[in-house]
Amino acid sequence: MTAPRKLHIKSYGCQMNVYDAQRMVDTLAAEGFVETASADDADLVILNTCHIREKASEKVYSELGRLRQAKDDAARDGRAMTIAVAGCVAQAEGEEIVRRAPVVDVVVGPQSYHHLPQLLARARTDGVAIETEFPAEDKFGVLPQPKPEAIRARGISAFVTVQEGCDKFCTFCVVPYTRGAESSRPVGKVIDDVTRLADHGVREITLIGQNVNAYHGEGPDGRSWPLGRLLERLASIPGIMRLRYSTSHPRDVDDSLIEAHRDIPAVMPFVHLPVQSGSDRILAAMNRRHTAADYCAVVDRFRAVRQDIAFSSDFIVGFPGETGEDFCATLALVTQIGYAGAYSFKYSPRPGTPAAEMREMVSAAEMDERLARLQELIDSQQSAFNTAAIGKTVDVLFERGGRYDGQIVGRTAYLQPAHVMAPNDIIGQVIPVKIDSLERYSLLGELAAPVSRPAQSPVTIGA
Ligand code: SAH
Ligand code: SF4
Ligand code: F3S
Repeated sequence: MTAPRKLHIKSYGCQMNVYDAQRMVDTLAAEGFVETASADDADLVILNTCHIREKASEKVYSELGRLRQAKDDAARDGRAMTIAVAGCVAQAEGEEIVRRAPVVDVVVGPQSYHHLPQLLARARTDGVAIETEFPAEDKFGVLPQPKPEAIRARGISAFVTVQEGCDKFCTFCVVPYTRGAESSRPVGKVIDDVTRLADHGVREITLIGQNVNAYHGEGPDGRSWPLGRLLERLASIPGIMRLRYSTSHPRDVDDSLIEAHRDIPAVMPFVHLPVQSGSDRILAAMNRRHTAADYCAVVDRFRAVRQDIAFSSDFIVGFPGETGEDFCATLALVTQIGYAGAYSFKYSPRPGTPAAEMREMVSAAEMDERLARLQELIDSQQSAFNTAAIGKTVDVLFERGGRYDGQIVGRTAYLQPAHVMAPNDIIGQVIPVKIDSLERYSLLGELAAPVSRPAQSPVTIGA
């Protein structure tokens, strides 16, 4: 028997890249690869890249510089190391990557990674293999399912892609170009994936898509199902305790989604709803096709059905032409909504996007100043939100052991990490926790209800 080949994979960017990386591992496991934590002893290194901002995409080249050294060292030891670039930089730059970094053997776009085994073979015979087409067949129909051991090793919370691509064409964004046109997976396939995950211990599912609430997969009745209906169906799968979805666009929030939050306890009351800016002038220049007031109205629709719902968002500061007044409108919107947390970024011009042609650049110093002010406001809201949990009893889904002996870590409905001292067998259960204090971003507390144990005879230690 030959020794298994070692695979090291590193992901950048969004949750979908994390999910895609797992599916690449599953694909290559079927070819005899096992994962290794270090690039140095790997036979195959995959960088699963992100193109969203210049910094993200340039990181890949510095990593490739380091890998050149590792590949040379391996060659000196008589080992061949193959280097592949996957993800959104692969899609956007294609063969340019090999020109800039000849150390790369394989370039594979996000719609083609199910072809990795063939591409590796092609690279062996031809020296290099590049595939960045959007193939007609659906990769999900071909990808092997994860093995039960792999599902269990990944823990009790899992991502499932249900939708991919985006047709919104915000003027700053590369995603419509790197991930292609919006498409949804059929309901039946999603049910199969979630059932399999639940059968092997997964208790929380996050449905992911670049614009996940544009979901319109074909249902078993032949009709197109909206996201709310999909959530309702998935909530009935035995073992599934919590459902989340990310990322949503404010324009695609329909009644089915609002009703899902109203009617389905498994749908968590925490919504990531990016707005980008609070200025209508900038929102129009971004081609967001909603105003600040439209966004607030969407938030109100959610709040009308679930008072305990909380929101997070994404913001861009320094979009071309953003004035001090526009920026103040963003601060005003943040104050009006009151977020549990949010990500904020300095605008980064991306090749090929309409905004990259816009001339009125905001100076670097102004961008820095605006980013700092926005982050300060968001941080104060996040810390107020976390502090408000102290003294309350909240449901926590326990996920894993903590840093100390006897400590177990879980998450609240709002994804706040929560730590308790408790027996290991609470992992995978939702248990109320009385929160006593806050340590940085983590809540500390104690179990507020007896642990429910499966009916079985007590285990006698040492018997
Ligand atoms: N819908 C996607 C959004 C991905 S991009 C998802 O599934 O997450 C995540 C965030 O990056 C965007 O919401 C936006 O705030 C930010 N972003 C996108 N393009 C950017 C750019 N050119 N410069 C700065 N930030 C950008
Ligand atoms: Fe990019 Fe999101 Fe806009 Fe689509 S909706 S173009 S993914 S920012
Ligand atoms: Fe980045 Fe592509 Fe995700 S550009 S954010 S990896 S969709």
